[in-house]
Amino acid sequence: MCGIVGAVAQREVPGILLEGLHRLEYRGYDSAGMAVISASGEIDTRKEVGKVRQLEDELASSPLLGHIGIAHTRWATHGKPSEVNAHPHLSGDIALVHNGIIENHAELRLRLEKLGYVFVSQTDTETIVHLMHFHYQQSGDLLTALCDTIPELEGAYGLAVMHASEPQRLLCARKGSPLVIGVGIGENFIASDQLALRQVTDRFVYLEEGDIAEIYTDKYIVHDSNFKPVSRDITQIDAAAETSDKGHYRHYMLKEIYEQPAVIRRSLAGRLGAKKILAEAMGAKAEEILKTVSSIQIVACGTSYHAGMVAKYWIEGLAGVPCRVEVASEFRYRKFKVLENTLLVTISQSGETADTLAALRLAKTLGYCASLTVCNVLQSSLVRESDLYLMTEAGPEIGVASTKAFTTQLVALLFLTVALGRHHDMSESEEHEIVSALHELPDLLTETLALNTSIQTMSNAFADKHHALFLGRGAQWPIAMEGALKLKEISYIHAESYPAGELKHGPLALVDADMPVIAVAPNDVLLEKLKSNIEEVQARGGQLFVFCDKAAGFTAAKGMDIIELPHVSDVIAPIIYTIPLQLLSYHVAILKGTDVDQPRNLAKSVTVE
Ligand code: G6P
Repeated sequence: MCGIVGAVAQREVPGILLEGLHRLEYRGYDSAGMAVISASGEIDTRKEVGKVRQLEDELASSPLLGHIGIAHTRWATHGKPSEVNAHPHLSGDIALVHNGIIENHAELRLRLEKLGYVFVSQTDTETIVHLMHFHYQQSGDLLTALCDTIPELEGAYGLAVMHASEPQRLLCARKGSPLVIGVGIGENFIASDQLALRQVTDRFVYLEEGDIAEIYTDKYIVHDSNFKPVSRDITQIDAAAETSDKGHYRHYMLKEIYEQPAVIRRSLAGRLGAKKILAEAMGAKAEEILKTVSSIQIVACGTSYHAGMVAKYWIEGLAGVPCRVEVASEFRYRKFKVLENTLLVTISQSGETADTLAALRLAKTLGYCASLTVCNVLQSSLVRESDLYLMTEAGPEIGVASTKAFTTQLVALLFLTVALGRHHDMSESEEHEIVSALHELPDLLTETLALNTSIQTMSNAFADKHHALFLGRGAQWPIAMEGALKLKEISYIHAESYPAGELKHGPLALVDADMPVIAVAPNDVLLEKLKSNIEEVQARGGQLFVFCDKAAGFTAAKGMDIIELPHVSDVIAPIIYTIPLQLLSYHVAILKGTDVDQPRNLAKSVTVE
């Protein structure tokens, strides 16, 4: 997704902006650009299609100099990736960068063309900069021009803008797309994600919906959506708690896979007693709200949706509370009946996913009794706008394909299950069993990671394949879905997942020697049923790859590779069986030579619809 960085300083800013763009690379993008106001009072711009490194090379041969500037990584929505479509966009002496989508851009474009504006790009963003220019002609003041422009924009934006004759200030505004001010000493910054500014400051002001801000070297002024000056709190980030380098790992994704025992240990700390989940884990208001809840609606996207699917098995099966799960992009456009005392639960790594956020905002108008978000970013919009939040302690996740965020979401959702179960069908001894399983979880994850070499060997069988089928039953079905998603995201192999019982209702027709079939087979009540499904595959000459419990009674044979996992209790099996599927997709992607951390066409944080 697009990324924004801006700076006003008493020193040269291009280096700061470039570093910021590098730090935003994890979000996924296809072009990058930068504009500064030079000492002679002109806007000077560089843009490149491809990686930030290419922009860096261009800047090395043709440097920019200036004390105020804006920069952007673009993820194409309107118009293909190209230099003209890359931001910043210009109109006269105004330069602007934008995240989000302007929905009435076609209408604005027609109007502006009639006024004589000539468009050079296919972007929706170019309409904003011309509109700013049009209004600037009337007022001669950039802030007034911005305030006149905003009411004409329909859609979502996080934007930063500057004018060549106002080199002392940078303006920004947000609606539906995050923006943060980085507070420095004698210099100030803006970015779409605080991670972009961590090299220059650890103090941040998170702008709220509708905010407009003026950024100077020595001050910043925030106005709310009614254009009243407002004071917004400064948040100091604990630098030690967040590191974002790859360490000795070849990719962020691999590092993040290996971090899982540690981050899950951190997630459990302070929330898990010897026999009980500590009530405080859910926050002070939680007990009061949860005791009134009689059903759950989960809404999420992508990997977070799969976590929600697992949670449905837990919340209904262990806590005895009815639970529905839906992808946010469907939920937000569908008519349905809200049952009384239903808690709306959103799940999101970033807390900024546009569809999930829109679903939360919609839900507030529909009569849900309260909202809770399971989220990895404390300063995110979802956390700020939900009644309750349960933080996952994954730390920054940089690889676009989610790994540690997923397993920490599962841990948080187990906490939620227990907290709900206490007021419903869960006995003390059942809670005790879950707690003991959670205590064992970090070590079992380490033991499972030790299977890496065997999984790497197994991955060779996938290097020349174009399709794969993932099977699971019960709470392992969403794990199969997540395994298929990981494989397609990073190796570009077409992968599908099915609850194994559905095999004979269609997918069995696809099974032959060229279709690897991956099955997740813990030693649970559904094992015998799954074995029958596996035999159906074997009988049709399918190539099976089975991740199973040591005691499940599988033996490797022609057409069937097996990897044995440690014996684990049913409740944590979905978390454990996720690991081999993450490692498998990672190794297949390495063999395929893809860009593991930034797969093509995908973005880490999808802040547009
Ligand atoms: C994108 C990412 C996925 C993620 C999904 C939902 O598609 O590439 O990894 O699962 O968004 O993101 P969220 O931040 O809401 O969990």
